[in-house]
Amino acid sequence: MININKIIFRNLILGGITISILVGITVHFVEHNRINNYAEKLAFSESTKYSEYYNNFYHNPSISSLQTLRKIVQNTLDHDLFISIEIYDDSLNRIIRESLKDKDINEIKHDLDSKFPEFIMAGEIAHKVASINGQLYIKVMSPIRDKNKDKIIGHFEGVYHVSNDKIVEIRNKAFLSVFQSVLIVLATTFLLYPVILQLKKKLSIRSYELLDSNINTIKSLGSAIAKRDSDTNSHNYRVTIYSVSLAEKSRLSKSQIQALIKGAFLHDIGKIGISDAILLKPGKLTHDEFEIVKQHVVLGVEILENNKWLRDAIDVVLYHHEKFDGSGYIHGLKGKDIPVNAKIFAIADVFDALTSSRPYKKAFSLDKSLEILKSDAGSHFEPQFISKFEQIAKELYIEISNLENERVLNKHLDSLISRYFTILN
Ligand SMILES: [Fe+2]
Repeated sequence: MININKIIFRNLILGGITISILVGITVHFVEHNRINNYAEKLAFSESTKYSEYYNNFYHNPSISSLQTLRKIVQNTLDHDLFISIEIYDDSLNRIIRESLKDKDINEIKHDLDSKFPEFIMAGEIAHKVASINGQLYIKVMSPIRDKNKDKIIGHFEGVYHVSNDKIVEIRNKAFLSVFQSVLIVLATTFLLYPVILQLKKKLSIRSYELLDSNINTIKSLGSAIAKRDSDTNSHNYRVTIYSVSLAEKSRLSKSQIQALIKGAFLHDIGKIGISDAILLKPGKLTHDEFEIVKQHVVLGVEILENNKWLRDAIDVVLYHHEKFDGSGYIHGLKGKDIPVNAKIFAIADVFDALTSSRPYKKAFSLDKSLEILKSDAGSHFEPQFISKFEQIAKELYIEISNLENERVLNKHLDSLISRYFTILN
């Protein structure tokens, strides 16, 4: 039996993991953006830092004001992680060019420009992030404005070496974000599991009630027909049990057996449309009367065809009087053209009629009944199904004969039905 709880749990876990991976990838990109944001802030703060000193130099160009500006730049190189700083005037003439002495700055700058030519723009600020020889560098370019901020009077360009500590810090933040996201997703998944189980339990109860109601409906409909010409439902119950047993022996699929059960119960439902005068006539029917009786298979289809749940019973309802050699009714189908369920049901129906007593005849013995069935193999019945039925008939007949009354028979039938109409749990 399929355990739907396990399926729900497995799907939740798979869904949780998938979402976690997607969240992880998203967070990774978010963290990548953090580096870019960091670079933009860096460019802005540096250009602001030199703004006052560059403005002094720009408006009062002198050796003194230039030296002051250079000192500020050198101080930055000594105490910050910039490895190169350049300042240009508004005509792009280089005013300052300072680099750390112990770094091969030219090679790094060359790699930055040749291997990573694209800048990322954010307003007036341009930057790029590059990994060179396992080290992370940021090149930033930013305009320097005059004191009133309405005119660009120079440009700042710097290469910043991102420290390993900074990388570790960014990675840790990224890992923490991913970890938190995954934790939230997994926690949500596990919180949802009991809620889904509860909903599924309610759904199972409703489904069971609906199924039980449907089963009782076909029993009631079958009973309504049986009561027309018989006091009991026993014939319906027995033919259903015989049919299912032969279907199992013939290894029919679960869905085929479900249709067979419905068909067995409802095989004569069309008799509702046949008048009492004909249906309950004690003597032999005339030719015309028999033609009317034959119509019960068509009337049965008309009753069932608009009911989605009962529609698969039509194979039995419409074709249960067809014969293997084509001499049956209502379409005179032959051999393989007759649906399997109808061929199986026909054997069960006739076997029960033979082994049961009627007002006009006594019940035949098991051996005599089987003898009659076998003599009709190839004419009325499909030989391979008669052969299979022969193998199970004795045991089946003894078992059913021992079920004393309709109530016990019904109980036996219910256990058989429950094998084919189940709610997943
Ligand atoms: Fe019939």
